[in-house]
This record gives sequence, C-alpha cells and structure tokens, in this order.
Amino acid sequence: MRIVLMGPPGVGKGTQAVRLSEKLGVVHVSTGDILREAVADGTGLGKKVREYLESGQLVPDGLMGDLIAERLGQDDARGGFILDGFPRTLEQIAILDRVLRRLGVELDVAVELVADEAEIIRRLGGRRVCPQCRQVYHLENRPPKAAGVCDACGSALVQRPDDEESVIRDRLEVFARQTRPVHDAYGQRGLLKEVDGHGDPADVFERVAGLMERV
Ligand code: AP5
Repeated sequence: MRIVLMGPPGVGKGTQAVRLSEKLGVVHVSTGDILREAVADGTGLGKKVREYLESGQLVPDGLMGDLIAERLGQDDARGGFILDGFPRTLEQIAILDRVLRRLGVELDVAVELVADEAEIIRRLGGRRVCPQCRQVYHLENRPPKAAGVCDACGSALVQRPDDEESVIRDRLEVFARQTRPVHDAYGQRGLLKEVDGHGDPADVFERVAGLMERV
C-alpha cells in the first residue's frame, strides 16, 4: 500500500506510522526524521535545513522534492510506503504526483489524524526523544523505565528544539496556513480519510488499522 499520513505537529503520526509499517510490511518514510538525521550528521543538506527545523518553518519545496524523489526511488519503497510528513504544501502534492507517475504507481489513501489543540500541545510539551536510536517517549504517556534514559540504548533523552513552547505555536500556525490546503486537495480527489487521534495509542491504532482493511 502507498499511504500518506497527515495531521498537525504532535498528533501522533510517527507513533502510528511505526506500528502501521510493522503491520503492513511497508517502509516508514518520515521526512522529519530524514532531515533531523541530516542535521545531526552535519551533511550539506543538514546545514541548509537546520534553521528551518529549529524555528518550525517548512523547508523549501525544491529541497523536499529532491529528497522525496531519491527516497521513494530506493528499493525498499518498491513494495509500498507510509509517507509521514509529506506532502505539506500544494506544490509538494504536485511533486509527489510526478514522482509516483515516474515510478508507475498510485497513492491508495491519505489518512489524517485529528486531535484538539490542547491535546497536541500536551503531547509535544512532554515528548522526549533519544538522539542516538530515535526512540520517542512522553513524560506521562510513555515514560522511559529510568527517568531521562533511553530504554533501548541507554542514551540521555533530549527535548527536540522545535518542541519549545513558543516554537510549538509557530508550527501549529504554519500547519494551519500552509498544510491545510493539502487536506482539501486530497479531499477533492476522494483520497482523504480522517481518523480520531484522541485516546491511547493502541486505540488510535485500532482505528487506523480498521480503516486500512476498508481501503
Ligand atoms: P516532523 O518531524 O514531520 O514534525 P511534525 O509534523 O511537526 O510532527 P511531529 O514529529 O512533531 O509529531 P507526530 O505527529 O509524529 O507525533 P508523535 O508520534 O511524535 O517535521 C519537523 C520539521 O521538519 C518541520 O517543522 C519542518 O521544518 C521539517 N519538515 C518535515 N517535513 C517537511 C516537509 N514535507 N516540507 C517542509 N518541511 C518539512 O507524538 C508526539 C508525542 O505524543 C510523543 O511524545 C508520543 O509519545 C505522544 N503520543 C503519540 N500518540 C499519543 C496518544 N495517542 N496518546 C498520548 N500520547 C501520544
């Protein structure tokens, strides 16, 4: 299956994409993870995008287009993929259309997770991540066994710079202004399916997985 997973910052896209990728046996492509890895590795791309990530602004469409064309062209994406965090603008929809046409495949569904703003702010404010193995925790909902330490690799957990309160507000504003039209465009194509993102991650996953059986 070829799935776009959408929704505002912190709604739980990454959390659900990991589970769905395991269930469906398709690769999880998170543009945010790819960009953060480039920043951490200090690559040319990382140097170009660092400021955008830290301030919560969107990386320019041209850079994103090159990135997504390369990633979806790789062997592990042949059998399908879950795109987490792309497309985020109308131009990125056009870029994705071109890449899919070149590959001779089509999108099956665009899933949008929905949650209210107070819940999103609570999720982002409590998120902690492992800078080494990229595991994601939450201070209340998914705390590590030992405070501040990654269960999987023992590294010290950190807060993403864009999870600072002032940046969270900016990201929500960017989402409302620049990414909302993507919802409308996929809606017009009949590809959009909304899923309630409230509740325990396992309950949300049941809804997402149930939807996949009907696609
Ligand atoms: P990206 O990494 O994609 O960030 P985002 O869309 O803002 O999403 P998040 O990763 O913050 O949240 P999520 O929805 O995955 O939630 P999660 O599962 O972690 O992008 C970062 C930046 O990269 C952008 O700002 C931009 O600069 C750039 N970028 C990326 N793609 C781009 C593009 N296409 N174009 C241009 N720029 C781009 O969950 C959040 C927290 O809540 C976690 O702690 C989790 O444990 C917890 N949680 C999850 N689900 C639940 C639940 N059901 N109940 C309780 N807690 C939960």
